[in-house]
Amino acid sequence: MRILIINGPNLNLLGTREPEIYGKEGFESFLTYLREEYSEVQIDYYQSNVEGEIINKLHEYGFDADGIILNAGAYTHTSIAIGDAIKAISTPVVEVHLSNVFARESYRHESFLTPVCVGCISGFGLKSYKLALESFL
Ligand code: DQA
Repeated sequence: MRILIINGPNLNLLGTREPEIYGKEGFESFLTYLREEYSEVQIDYYQSNVEGEIINKLHEYGFDADGIILNAGAYTHTSIAIGDAIKAISTPVVEVHLSNVFARESYRHESFLTPVCVGCISGFGLKSYKLALESFL
């Protein structure tokens, strides 16, 4: 099984960015843990702060990977283009968020991605990614 995790804008700063909201752990150490815990799964990882690069990666993996776990960061709430890309591919996408976006500012309550994803996991910190991975197993 091949799964791609995509992190969008500002998530390269995980661990130092607003740690009271997003936690103190960086993504790389969590990824090492995930790869050890799920050694039977090929877990590819991509991070970009650029909307078009995220779309290109969805196109690249979206016809032969088994699943995509996507935290599009703030693009979640603004990007019709990422929503269209998810619609255009055949690989199922699970939307994840570290924070509970529904408990935050109202502009974070809207997502252009949720309607075109198989599901959305929000509010469990890094565990959101683990739960998303479990959903594909
Ligand atoms: C986020 C939530 C978004 O609203 C925010 O813009 C992010 C991170 C999360 O993981 O909680 O960058 O996607």
